[in-house]
Amino acid sequence: MTSSMKLLTVAAAALVSVVSFETAHARPTALAQAQPSLPEGAGKEVVEKVCTACHGLDYLVPSQRTVQTWREIVDLMKAYGAEATDEQWTAITDYIIATLAHLNVNKGSADEYGMLFRVDAKTAQGVVAYRDTQGGFKTVDDLKKAPGLDAAQIDALNGRLIFE
Ligand code: HEC
Repeated sequence: MTSSMKLLTVAAAALVSVVSFETAHARPTALAQAQPSLPEGAGKEVVEKVCTACHGLDYLVPSQRTVQTWREIVDLMKAYGAEATDEQWTAITDYIIATLAHLNVNKGSADEYGMLFRVDAKTAQGVVAYRDTQGGFKTVDDLKKAPGLDAAQIDALNGRLIFE
């Protein structure tokens, strides 16, 4: 079996199983798209190695999956039989949070804020409490007024912040 046939077979099986899969997860769209490249970051090589055993990187990018959704996906991949050492799983999760995961600034939990902005639990909870007193954040500038978040960091993460 050629590798492209194998990919098609896996993708076809995936499309069948995705029908019964939670609709909250974006469904894989491509069968045999060109491989997109992952953003640079520590752990990229581990992801390229571990996460291409069954499907392409097109399953990973582009997407607006949140920190929480990614965590669920990583657990699901483990359940599907994805194999990696504990260190590799840590590297994979760190990479995904540092480079791929999105945050819905109005719905995200304190935990998700903490992970994406790398702030402690107290700071993250303060941001969420502030958000609630403001009735949400409409713009990046609103978010910059939240206590404990760094403006430059907000700018750096801007493409991964969802305001809705
Ligand atoms: C053992 C095979 C296997 C490995 C290894 C694997 N996956 Fe998957 N993955 C699947 C299958 C099968 C599906 C499609 C079924 C589904 O969507 O639940 C899938 C689907 C996905 C999806 C789309 C699912 C959704 O709900 O949006 C993402 C994202 C994904 N994988 C990420 C990863 C990442 C990240 C890794 C590396 C940690 C990985 N996969 C490694 C088997 C694998």
